[in-house]
Amino acid sequence: MSTDVERGDQIHPGDPVLVDRYTTGARINHWITAASLVLLALSGLALFHPSLYFLTALFGGGETTRAIHPWIGVVLFFSFAGLFIRFFKANLWVRTDTVWLAHGRDVITSHEEKLPEVGKYNAGQKLVFWSMSLLIIVLITSGLVIWDQYFGPYFTVEQKRIAVLVHATMAVVAICVWIVHVYAAIWVRGTISAMTRGQVTGGWAWRHHRKWLKELVTGSPKK
Ligand code: HEM
Repeated sequence: MSTDVERGDQIHPGDPVLVDRYTTGARINHWITAASLVLLALSGLALFHPSLYFLTALFGGGETTRAIHPWIGVVLFFSFAGLFIRFFKANLWVRTDTVWLAHGRDVITSHEEKLPEVGKYNAGQKLVFWSMSLLIIVLITSGLVIWDQYFGPYFTVEQKRIAVLVHATMAVVAICVWIVHVYAAIWVRGTISAMTRGQVTGGWAWRHHRKWLKELVTGSPKK
């Protein structure tokens, strides 16, 4: 953990202690993923139903939206793969995650003193991580089956019909998971700065991720 003093920053009495949570590389990786998911959702919805066709104007018309949507999907896939490699270890399920989940009411009512100490991520964040990982694999696979320009001849009409259904359903689920992720990031005050500035306050870490903070202090953090 590098502190403000080690970085040579000016410390003023009363300023909160800041703790590093994400490197610049991880943050760039995250925001590329976030931007591609938003663009995918908009371009996908534009192609999904005639009432949403007006959204194609954002991408320069129907033809370009259709051409660009799968490529943004490819960007999301590789970008998320980067996040996966960076974060999967810290998202592995541990016994206390099940206890944390069982205390759902205490989580919602912010009675964190009744919860087990949390590492870098809590059980809710881990569920978002693993469901996004699964959803993105299903979305890219079903997306390739219906990407006629390149893969048209390799699949039957029946396979493509099933793939369209799976693709649309999983896309809706992914958008719901994304809404939960963003809601949680805003609801837990002080979390957004982790992904904008790469730092959180010591108070935030002590309150929400005490085990992680202790590991940082003792020099044995899980990445
Ligand atoms: C505009 C939308 C988004 C916002 C505001 C946002 C915000 C955040 C914030 C604040 C964190 C840090 C949480 C913490 O350190 O405790 C975070 C972590 C993360 N975000 Fe996002 N995010 C957005 C979109 C996305 C999307 C679209 C994905 C994936 C498809 C994603 C995947 C992740 C992952 C994997 C982490 C690390 C947490 C973990 O591994 O469990 N985010 N996000």
